[in-house]
Amino acid sequence: MTSEFQIPNVSGGKVIQIRRLSKGCASYILCDRNESVVVDPSSKMEEYVRVAGEEGSPITHVIDTHKHADHISGARKLASITGAQLHLSPEDGYYFEGYSPLVNATSIGLESNLMEIKAIHTPGHTRGSMSLLINDRVLISGDTLFLDGIGRPDLQGSLEESAQQLYSTCQKLFDELDSETMVLPGHFGPNFDLMGIGPITAPISVVQARIRKANSSDPDVIRELVCNLPKPGNYEVILDINSGRASCDPSMCDIIEEGPNRCGLSAEVR
Ligand SMILES: [Fe+2]
Repeated sequence: MTSEFQIPNVSGGKVIQIRRLSKGCASYILCDRNESVVVDPSSKMEEYVRVAGEEGSPITHVIDTHKHADHISGARKLASITGAQLHLSPEDGYYFEGYSPLVNATSIGLESNLMEIKAIHTPGHTRGSMSLLINDRVLISGDTLFLDGIGRPDLQGSLEESAQQLYSTCQKLFDELDSETMVLPGHFGPNFDLMGIGPITAPISVVQARIRKANSSDPDVIRELVCNLPKPGNYEVILDINSGRASCDPSMCDIIEEGPNRCGLSAEVR
């Protein structure tokens, strides 16, 4: 399921949201005039190649916002088959080379200069989690901010440290970004119009207002939220595959990934 999102005040540049309904995952293709940037691709790579081809914008950059625990990333392979530059956050720990380090303030350079894509380090869900700010108007938030929750901080690293980092990250985004910045999340729940023509998105001010209990600086509150929340199926195997420590037969991807999205903490909605 794909939806287009026009970047405010940028003619000729757009974001295409690709929703994978079975997993509640969203990935993105940022189309500039002559090139495309793919963010958080699943292992179903044909779709990205097809969409970029239809747009007449070959894929030149592929980015993972973080090391995914709930699905097998297609980023490394997509970059390899298209010749695109692969960008990963080194703090998430990868056991292979050949990628460009994605760190705070990294700018993804596109030839036409229509789109400014700036990386923001947003740790918490993982130590190396990154978000992407496009023309100061749109935030691709990975698994840091969802439209009604935040990324769970207990899948990689210590819960206490990660929960504190995530709280600080969210406050920083709320404080520093324009309140009308549109959030494009890495996951979505059933409360949204999954089959709608438009993308699943909301202004960051709306997201801030929706999130209360899930965005707490108190580790005890976070511990209480995650203690009864099952972890994604096979998440340790998936982390090994995505970090390059294990390989995966493509025919096995769907079986390994089976099960619902369990990357988020849902919020208390006001
Ligand atoms: Fe995640």
